[in-house]
Amino acid sequence: MNIDVFTLFPEWFDWFRTQRHVRNVLETGSSLECVNPRDHTTLSGRQVDDTPFGGGAGMVLRVDVMERALSARYDMDALDVRSRRRVIALTPGGRILDDAFVDELAAEPAITLLCGRYEGFDERIVQHLASDALSVGRYVLSGGELAAMVVCDAVLRKLPGALGHADSAEEESFSAALGGNPEYPHYTRPAEWRGHAVPDVLLSGNHEHVRQWRRDRSRERGGHGAS
Ligand code: ADE
Repeated sequence: MNIDVFTLFPEWFDWFRTQRHVRNVLETGSSLECVNPRDHTTLSGRQVDDTPFGGGAGMVLRVDVMERALSARYDMDALDVRSRRRVIALTPGGRILDDAFVDELAAEPAITLLCGRYEGFDERIVQHLASDALSVGRYVLSGGELAAMVVCDAVLRKLPGALGHADSAEEESFSAALGGNPEYPHYTRPAEWRGHAVPDVLLSGNHEHVRQWRRDRSRERGGHGAS
């Protein structure tokens, strides 16, 4: 998986890249690289944004600057990039990220994440340069960087080698293995804490009973009841 993040704050991702599960995946041939649109603007003062037509507060990321950055990165007309790889504009009004969307992205060989700042993007970036608009929730962040990290984290941990244990991403919340339900509760030592005991079945050593109990708890949490 090759991930390119277009951001005015590439240094934010330096810390992210050092995290264990990210490092693990990057060591197996995946990449996470940043492109700064500011390096591709021809406007004076390295300008990348402008005031919105029609008035209003804040600044809007310019479409011509994003166009230059995309065509420089991929050595083609920026309009053609989205037919070669998913180009995802991070914006609060986009398609909400869920486990199915994460799976979809994790199956791609390459994705590009476009981070907005200030008031966001010129709409023509979303309409004509991006293939998708993605939101991490119906609230507004100061920019797309944290949303991009959420996407990278959720996608990269699905890839082989990210997590220590091969099964860890298989049977987790919202996965197909759990029928899209949240994960069952986990317990560890001590078996009793302040009068709160771990459910007996988990200490029973009966793997089939444990499996059934976990499936039931997962269904309950998903609101579909135990079978
Ligand atoms: N940029 C600002 N807010 C965002 C959000 N909620 N999701 C994705 N990108 C964003």
